Order: sequence, then structure tokens, then C-alpha cells
Amino acid sequence: MKWTVFLTICSLIWAAHGLIRIPLKKVRSVRSLLRASGVLKEFMRDHQTDVFSRRYAQCFPAGTPSLRLLDHTRVKLHNYMDAQFYGQISLGTPGQNFTVIFDTGSADLWVPSSYCVSQACANHQQFKAFDSHSFAHDGRTFGINYGSGHLLGVMGRETLKVGDLTVKEQEFGESVYEPGQAFVLAQFDGVLGLAYPSLAEIVGKPVFDSMMTQKLVEKPVFSFYLSRRQTMDPEGELIIGGTDEALFSGPINWIPVSHKGYWQIKMESIAVQGIASFCPRGCQAIIDTGTSLIAGPTNDILKLQELIGAVPTSIGEYLIDCARLTSLPHVTFILGGVEYTLQSQNYVRKEVLGGRELCFSGFVAMDLMSQQGPLWILGDVFLTEYYSIFDRGQDRVGLARARHQADYSNQLAINHTIYP
Ligand SMILES: *[C@@H]1O[C@H](CO)[C@@H](O)[C@H](O)[C@H]1NC(C)=O
Repeated sequence: MKWTVFLTICSLIWAAHGLIRIPLKKVRSVRSLLRASGVLKEFMRDHQTDVFSRRYAQCFPAGTPSLRLLDHTRVKLHNYMDAQFYGQISLGTPGQNFTVIFDTGSADLWVPSSYCVSQACANHQQFKAFDSHSFAHDGRTFGINYGSGHLLGVMGRETLKVGDLTVKEQEFGESVYEPGQAFVLAQFDGVLGLAYPSLAEIVGKPVFDSMMTQKLVEKPVFSFYLSRRQTMDPEGELIIGGTDEALFSGPINWIPVSHKGYWQIKMESIAVQGIASFCPRGCQAIIDTGTSLIAGPTNDILKLQELIGAVPTSIGEYLIDCARLTSLPHVTFILGGVEYTLQSQNYVRKEVLGGRELCFSGFVAMDLMSQQGPLWILGDVFLTEYYSIFDRGQDRVGLARARHQADYSNQLAINHTIYP
């Protein structure tokens, strides 16, 4: 009862400051579902060759400019297999709801089309253009390469609702073909990219650029809070238009964006148990909410798995002996002169499979190149511990310690006395 009053007052205050809060749900990742059903190995083998994707690719003119083979999208399917945080948007008038990944590692908005022929689309919400009177045809097609085949679709413009914000004439993609098993099992319908426009495959403004142009946000900033557990409240939040101090503690460390595509920043070094071990002369990292793990160049990750005592399994994943968790080294990322340390309980993911508790390494090898060199990907494993702020006004990323569990409920109690 009291909480309701408090929350109502707070949402009024936040609304007055132009903050939009999008609740995020934490769910089991596709990879974890595949693992639980024991088909991960077959999936890893099969998803390299997808005959159907080639067949459907022929429906589109070969020279379609958006069918570029870009390595970053190839990596994204991998990422989405681990994605865990989703939120809701609505498209069209009247609104049609979709569950999307709010992904700082891509820049497009797409949802399944009602004309889609793939199994993946049958399992998800599909956009019905004919049911919306705000829909505008575009006529162009798009393709996003996911390694297992191209996601193919048509482009349109539509009214988009994210929280209380209404974006007019948002360019988006309706997928008519979605490759591979990962999309079939995914608990999201589509993706809403929050990276810079240069990363977009769909020509036009990415959603946050539209929000800025249409002056829907007071500050050109959005931020993410990700919970540690599925049952926490909130499980996660995307805050559009600013930050929420209740969700983090301590100072914000601002790091300039080094290249505007991904949210890419310079990393100074990576230390294991305090000893500089990787990235000795500095390297590049991206802050990616659409990836759940921490990824890095293969050679470095293999060495890191060794340092934390993780051993490879037949399904290509790395396991750690759960009994040894407390004796494992901590891993520190140095960004903007500040040390960001993860303890073993932060970088190990526990899962119960067949009644047994297994501990999986939160690090994964992924060779993603940029003009500035190989990239490390700081995904949800990192972002759960550190509240992340994305500032398009000053092209910088802010990081602060996220408030969790006990400390978070304390904060609520404190707030409650301030706003009785
Ligand atoms: C879409 O979601 C909103 C908020 O959860 C809900 O109120 C509305 O009924 C949903 N619309 C449809 C068509 O399901």
C-alpha cells in the first residue's frame, strides 16, 4: 500500500523530468534452453549451414545493397543466443505489442512480419501492416547477415511507442525470413538497436536518433540497470532521457566514445588477480547490452579460461568446478583510469541441468574486428555489476556501481522517508 503511494509519487516526479522507464524482463537465454534440451552440439554444427536461407535469399535481387557481408552482424546471432533482457514496444495504430532486445550493439529496429515464411516467425508476434492506419510503405528491402543466413525483410515507417514516448514515422524492418534455430527458440520477437546510425543496415534514423530529432527526450541520454537474478524487482530497466540515481551508487566515470558505431571505448588494460594480463598497450571495447557474456579475441580468452580454471567441454563451452568458486581470481577491466573488478560469482553463471548444478564461464571467444583493432565486448555479465549510461550529446559512456538486492531495498526505504 505504502509502496504504491511512493511509486506513484516517484513516477510523477520522473515524468516531470522527462524520464521514461522501460521495465526489462530477465529470461533464460536461447543457449541455456538449447543446453537444457541437449541439442546445443547439433545446433552449433548446423547453424553454420542453412540451406533455406540461401533459397529465400534468391527472392531478393542479388545486388541489394544492404546485403553486405558485415562481420559485426555475423557475431550478433551468437550474442542473441545468450541475450536475456527484453522489454516491450508497440508499433502501429492501434498499437501492436512486441518484445524486443534493447541492443546497444546494433542500430536497427526490426520485428517479424505477418508475411514471414519462417518457423521463427510462426513462434512470435507478427506485425500486421494492414491492421494499422499509420503504416507507410517504403518499398526497399533489407538484409542482416547472421552467419546462419540473412534475415530478410521489407522496410516501412510506423508510429512507435516506447514507454510513454511516441515516435512518429520511425523507419523499421519487417522480417519476411529469419534464419536458423536461434530465432525459433528466442523469447524476443525483434530487436531495437541503440547504437550509432553508422552501424545501421536499414537506411534511415535509428530509434534514439528519431527521439532526439523529434525532441522527445530532455537529455540525449539513456541508461541501463540489469538485475542479478530473474526474480528481482525490477529485473532490469532501460531509462530513456537520463539516469536514475536510486539504481547506482558512487561517482559516474565518463569515458569518451573512441569510434561512433558501436558504443566503443578505449580500454587501458585487463588484469587477473591484480596482474596485468591482457590488452597491455590498451585496446578497444564495446558496451553491448545485447550480449550476455564478456567476449574477447580467441587467443586472449583461451588464456583467460586457463587462468580461471575453466575447462572446455564437448559442447564448446567452458565449465568451472563450482566447489572452487571462492578461490578463483578476480578479473579487472581498466577503463578511463578506473578499475572495474568482477569476482568469480560475477563472471560465473550457475545453471541447474538434469538436477546438477553446473558453473559456466562468463567469458567467450569471439573475434570481432574494428578499424581500431580487435574488440572486447562487455556484455550483461559486466553491465549487471555496473550501471551504464549512454550519452549521445557528449559521445561518452558513463559507468557506476549498480545497486543490488539488499542495498537496493535500503535505498527504497530511504527514499520512502524523503517522499512520505
Ligand atoms: C499491449 O501492452 C499494453 C501494456 O502492457 C497493454 O495494455 C495492451 O493491452 C497490449 N495490447 C495488445 C493489443 O495486446
